[in-house]
Amino acid sequence: MRDKYADKNAVITGGSSGIGFATAKLLVDGGARVVITGRSRTTLDAATERLGKNALAVRSDVASLPDLDALAARVRDELGTVEALFVNAGITTAMPFASTTEEMYDESFAINVKGAFFTVQKLAPLLSTGAGVVLTTSAANVMGMQDVSVYAAGKAALRSMARSFSRELLPRGIRVNAISPGPVDTGILENTMTKEAADRFKADRVAENPMQRFGTPEEIARAMAFLAFDATYTTGTEFVADGGITQL
Ligand SMILES: NC(=O)c1ccc[n+]([C@@H]2O[C@H](COP(=O)([O-])OP(=O)(O)OC[C@H]3O[C@@H](n4cnc5c(N)ncnc54)[C@H](OP(=O)(O)O)[C@@H]3O)[C@@H](O)[C@H]2O)c1
Repeated sequence: MRDKYADKNAVITGGSSGIGFATAKLLVDGGARVVITGRSRTTLDAATERLGKNALAVRSDVASLPDLDALAARVRDELGTVEALFVNAGITTAMPFASTTEEMYDESFAINVKGAFFTVQKLAPLLSTGAGVVLTTSAANVMGMQDVSVYAAGKAALRSMARSFSRELLPRGIRVNAISPGPVDTGILENTMTKEAADRFKADRVAENPMQRFGTPEEIARAMAFLAFDATYTTGTEFVADGGITQL
């Protein structure tokens, strides 16, 4: 809806593609000002080109605390206060646990877990009263799926953080919730798998899903915006948008 988010400021880590980009588009189309982040300048520039003048791209790696400090300073200068923070940047690591290396483990936890924790810590001072924080977990965090033990454990950590941060931010009237997407076709798999492995993984996800399909980034974006702005009596929860895979 036009102007639904007028006068709202949002920050979306990992807003340059996939679910984060779809959320940025939904909010900008509704009148919000949005800061998106990512590591690739090229992807960020392509995203802001499509989003228009109400989107600002900041190159920032969530695994780097200096980058997060710089992001917070930039957001303070550009937006002042923030009504919605989407802690969405993430990578997948698909590997049987027997062959997972220390390097893979550390990279996954540095981005998906440490990155999320310090994103909230560094940006919390800028959140306005009544603001909403949304952490992107995954259906994998409550499943025993093949080859994603490190990723799933990291997402389970995020689900836990949603509860703890909710408690600590309650006195400031800030709500913290998690969104748990099922399979969404965004390109995240191709970033870490060969095309054949990604195709096989996707075919398995469709076959096992009650809705027999992938979700779209736009479907997840609508749920994320709902949690951030509309779910005003909801904190510490995890909203499941997964075609029923963890529920039926
Ligand atoms: N797609 C799914 O099936 C699915 C299901 C459940 C949960 N999720 C979760 O949803 C979130 C978004 O995933 P997606 O599917 O939309 O993936 P995507 O299209 O690959 O987007 C990931 C975004 O995160 C950014 N990013 C990755 N590492 C980063 C880092 N270290 N610092 C800052 N930004 C970083 C990427 O940009 P750069 O690469 O340029 O940094 C990109 O903007 C992730 O947390 C993912 O785990 C996805």
